[in-house]
Amino acid sequence: MRSRFSSLCRHNTGSRLRTGAGALATALLALPAVGTSPRAAGGSGAACPGDNGGLSLPPGFCATVFADNLGHVRQMAVAQDGTLYANTWSGPYYKNNDLPPGGFLVALKDRNGDGRADVTERFGETPAQGGHGGTGLALFDGAVYAESNDRIMRYPLAQGEIAPKAKGAVVVSGLPLTGDHPMHPFAITPKGELLVDLGSATNACEVRNRMPGSPGNNPCTEKQTRGGIWRYDARKTNQTFSPAERYASGIRNGEGIALDGEGRVFATQHGRDQLHENWPKLYTAQQGFELPAEEVVELKQGAEYGWPECYFDPTQQKLVLAPEYGGDGGRKVGLCAERQGPVAVFPAHWAPNDMKFYLAKGATAFPAAYEGGAFIAFHGSWNRAPGPQGGYNVVFQPMKDGRASGDYVVFADGFAGAVKEPGRAQHRPSGLAVGPDGALYVSDDVRGRIWRVTYVGGNPGAAIAAAPAAGPPARSSRAALPPEGIHPDAGQAVAALPVPPGATREQVARGERVFHGEVAGATCGGCHGSDAKGSPIGPDLTDGKWLWSDGSLKGIEQTIANGVPEPKQHGGAMPPMGGVELSDADLKAVAAYVWAVGHPTK
Ligand code: HEC
Repeated sequence: MRSRFSSLCRHNTGSRLRTGAGALATALLALPAVGTSPRAAGGSGAACPGDNGGLSLPPGFCATVFADNLGHVRQMAVAQDGTLYANTWSGPYYKNNDLPPGGFLVALKDRNGDGRADVTERFGETPAQGGHGGTGLALFDGAVYAESNDRIMRYPLAQGEIAPKAKGAVVVSGLPLTGDHPMHPFAITPKGELLVDLGSATNACEVRNRMPGSPGNNPCTEKQTRGGIWRYDARKTNQTFSPAERYASGIRNGEGIALDGEGRVFATQHGRDQLHENWPKLYTAQQGFELPAEEVVELKQGAEYGWPECYFDPTQQKLVLAPEYGGDGGRKVGLCAERQGPVAVFPAHWAPNDMKFYLAKGATAFPAAYEGGAFIAFHGSWNRAPGPQGGYNVVFQPMKDGRASGDYVVFADGFAGAVKEPGRAQHRPSGLAVGPDGALYVSDDVRGRIWRVTYVGGNPGAAIAAAPAAGPPARSSRAALPPEGIHPDAGQAVAALPVPPGATREQVARGERVFHGEVAGATCGGCHGSDAKGSPIGPDLTDGKWLWSDGSLKGIEQTIANGVPEPKQHGGAMPPMGGVELSDADLKAVAAYVWAVGHPTK
């Protein structure tokens, strides 16, 4: 336990699970051999033919882009014949942007075995039929099960079909679609129990969601319908959601539900946000970045895992009382002593969106050291702003007897590209699947890419290894300056911005620093993007369209001061002042900066 947690601290400071010398050797091994024939290095490495679709992987592993531009791909499953099924999603979180024609569900097959799908068939509800797609997908009993809007549907597969032709049947309907976590990921056990995650509507069951100093509702009645796992019968149709089918509670957002080789069921858990922003007297900004841990819990019927009254503190290795429920910054434990803790933990705000145990065996499987462990896809988040964001990777966690049995490693990295930010990452890992041949598939919900990762190292005895770091270490995008200069605002001078009537250039310059968290601890860039062009959780402030005022300096200032408790086009909320305490001068300055980026000079 101890070594695992101490390595966690190292991860928190941005370093990885390896020594400097080891890192160099690993990096060299992973370089493609240019102009020479691929050669096994030390029996554990082989050059990859392409560029791995931009991914960084441990030695001996290669990736192909199995499919691309599929929409916002979420969770996946692979059938015995190698056909991959994926669910895709739409909606305000993705700015309601253009979608590929056809249904939200995708069936993909690689007939010629080159690692790329050559058959793509779409099925299920289309946007024209009122569909919005969804996250969850599983295969069970010869059928594709998939989330679609408030329902989980069942599409039986006939012999030889790639996409099912049959009309879907409703397995369960009426699942809640409101609030911060409207997705419904699920797993189906061999007995036919459909275990579906109903994430919380709020951050911590606050009386006023995400607002500074708001106490939690006591009791948290939201837990009757949210923040837990519900159980249905996968073989029955037309079930309707009700509080009665709750299976386990106190799970804020359990997106990755997976079974290990012994049939135990586990779920990932996204820890709560905004400890510092909403409780600045109890938590420093640094604590806000590093608390609480993301978790993997073992699911047991009737168990309580702690949300919203508790969160897991990785340095103390225990659940402690949340500030909304009388917590004092991490010492008081109270009722958290009776809640179920995790079996594995990860750095704060990495956002574990899917998990699959590696149970494949045989000739093309990964080395034996991976068997029985879990791959976890971290979507990455915003709540480390203004600090560097984390996640945006796939981690391998060794597991034994239902618990973490060693340090996790970053298995696949490089998804985000130059900027790790929700609005600007190139790709974000959102789903995982393991094929019968042992290939690991990773999906992306930004551009709809699916990678296929295989082991070509030829050494079944190879040890678990981390991927070489992809590009420069994670940092806030503001810190990325030329010559890197890849993103539009790198080095951009405030001097080029207009100055609003009634304000000064000094105010715009000060406001630019407030916006990016360089002074006053604000996290505007975390939600609106460091380029202010918006992200899935905050609107574009540069497009000249104003939802909450007439766009005047006064109007913008008022919106920032009051916040937006109920956004028109986004989930979540904007707390007053973005969740921090801004002096009147800093409020006026940041309003001037927002006005300036929103009124570009022609
Ligand atoms: C937790 C995420 C979050 C943070 C942090 C945040 N905002 Fe917002 N902001 C939002 C959301 C959500 C909206 C409302 C969008 C909607 O209605 O769909 C919004 C709206 C706004 C608007 C109104 C835009 C309009 O169309 O009228 C302004 C201006 C704004 N934010 C500026 C800021 C500034 C400045 C900061 C930092 C001090 C900040 N925001 C911090 C999420 C955030």
